[in-house]
Amino acid sequence: MEKKVWYTYDDIHRVLKSLAEKVQAGRVKYDAMIAIGGGGFIPARILRCFLNIPIYAVTTAYYDSEYQGKHAESVKKIQWLDPLPENLVGKNVLVVDEVDDSRVTMEFVLNDLSKLDLGTIGIAVLHEKKKEKKGKLPEGIPYYSGIVVEDWWINYPWDAEDIEEHNQLAKQSEKI
Ligand code: G4P
Ligand code: MG
Repeated sequence: MEKKVWYTYDDIHRVLKSLAEKVQAGRVKYDAMIAIGGGGFIPARILRCFLNIPIYAVTTAYYDSEYQGKHAESVKKIQWLDPLPENLVGKNVLVVDEVDDSRVTMEFVLNDLSKLDLGTIGIAVLHEKKKEKKGKLPEGIPYYSGIVVEDWWINYPWDAEDIEEHNQLAKQSEKI
């Protein structure tokens, strides 16, 4: 069985603070964040406490399907920055998501954003999973992660139907 881990909002807040410090120590000054929804929304909002830059958003949905014995991943746009808001033209943007897993979604989003009239695009993820990546990131792109974690299934507090139970599981859960 796949291993699982639970994180509380407090765990996540602390990691995002250190992620913001890494971003601020980097060479690029970002003008705005682009959160990848749904998972990137809450991390981007918490990062804003530290980075003090506005949040824009795109939303994707990921499909993992089996067709004629073949495995296929596809990403669909739910909402996009199309047309690009005037305020973002030529600006440096930090793309924010909760987890760097297969990078399939990340590659899709970056490929599309790179066609827009933006300045430097950087990436910030809360959790970077230690695993082989299917998606490729553009060469040399600024990349920041809060913490590197094992390839376990992460239970996020925003998915919890019962937050007390979630926090209880997080207390007992082996943390990486
Ligand atoms: P990546 O490019 O950022 O690496 O993401 P990938 O396409 O591999 O992820 C596919 C979907 O699986 C994403 O959901 C991602 O958030 C979710 N996912 C991957 N690993 C975990 C995990 O350990 N725990 C949880 N809870 N989700 C995980 P999505 O389609 O973007 O949905 P949403 O929840 O962000 O709306
Ligand atoms: Mg997501």
